[in-house]
Amino acid sequence: MAYTEGMLREDALKAKTIIITGGGTGLGKSMARYFLKLGANIVICSRRLEVLEKTAEELNAETGAEILCVACDVRKTDQIENVIAKAIEKFGKVDGLVNNSAGNFISPTERLSYKAVDVVVDIVLRGTYYFTLALGKYWIENKIRGTVLNISTTYAWTGSGWVVPSAMAKAGVLAMTKSLAFEWAHYGIRLNAIAPGPFPTKGAWDRLFPEELSKKFSFESRIPLSRGGDHQELANLAAYLMSDFSAYMTGEVITLDGGEVLAAGQFNFLKEVSDDQWDAIEDQIKNANRDSKKPE
Ligand code: HXC
Ligand code: NAP
Repeated sequence: MAYTEGMLREDALKAKTIIITGGGTGLGKSMARYFLKLGANIVICSRRLEVLEKTAEELNAETGAEILCVACDVRKTDQIENVIAKAIEKFGKVDGLVNNSAGNFISPTERLSYKAVDVVVDIVLRGTYYFTLALGKYWIENKIRGTVLNISTTYAWTGSGWVVPSAMAKAGVLAMTKSLAFEWAHYGIRLNAIAPGPFPTKGAWDRLFPEELSKKFSFESRIPLSRGGDHQELANLAAYLMSDFSAYMTGEVITLDGGEVLAAGQFNFLKEVSDDQWDAIEDQIKNANRDSKKPE
């Protein structure tokens, strides 16, 4: 058994129709591939139809399943409604939504134009709440116990410089996840989120770890488990959260980051201390303990 293998039984998502935004590339594509293997009907949507169609062709060759591709900018409500209508037309209903589309790039915040902030916040936050609202209305009206999975980040709650629009938007997505999980629970609608650490994808690496940076900094050295995530690890967790196996879980945000977010621990700098140094430190502390017991 390995973390690079699928985890769930083969019918775990059988007959569920799931829309994955940004499903033509990166993590969205990896989730689409695994969900198909688990029996789901998959709809992928994003701005570039040619990218979606190429992915659909590749996944069809791997799994034999037919994938519905619909061009959609998640900032446009009419385009979102079109995706939902096309999905219902093809598969009869929609059961799940993965809000995975994102826009992001590193930059000193003072260098950003207003438009540069808007573009990231609108794709991540507006796109997520527009899509969730459109499907939520459909689910409530049709008494469907739908499931939403939002792909967030760990800096949604730690904050992070140099990706401020993304941090603001992802934090909003988490607030929506928890708020709606409570409000819509009585309809049987569940919302959860994953906060991934670094999972290598072309989309993210081109914009967050361009060559100039990756020559100087290795992201693996900051990860306590010393590696980036494997796409199957994320797909396994995502499939569980989209399946009925997680039926009692809602409003949860699961971190999957090899321990990266724990770096803030106050004494974690002690990682650098050698065994010899520890011998000396232990002696010093024990001596101080003894001294403190002597009468003054
Ligand atoms: C400063 C920049 C910039 C940069 C773009 N802009 N890149 N400003 N530094 N590096 C500014 C532009 O000048 C413009 O403002 C505004 O942003 C919009 O840029 P456009 O190129 O016109 O926008 P568009 O073509 O719509 O592209 C959107 C995008 C792009 C977000 C800028 O990166 C994109 O398409 N991204 C989609 C995929 C993606 O980002 N994937 C990574 C997700 S990874 P002005 O005012 O000049 O017109 C992720 C991981 C998080 O989220 C955690 C990792 C560990
Ligand atoms: P990616 O391959 O660049 O995926 C982003 C997707 O969003 C693309 O398919 C893109 O397709 C789509 N998209 C962008 N703007 C859109 C818009 N306006 N409307 C519809 N779709 C749009 O990057 P990724 O690494 O797989 O990221 C996937 C998700 O994981 C994102 O939410 C990201 O924040 C999150 N995440 C990734 C990492 C990581 O290490 N990779 C870490 C933490 C969180 P089009 O260009 O065709 O529109």
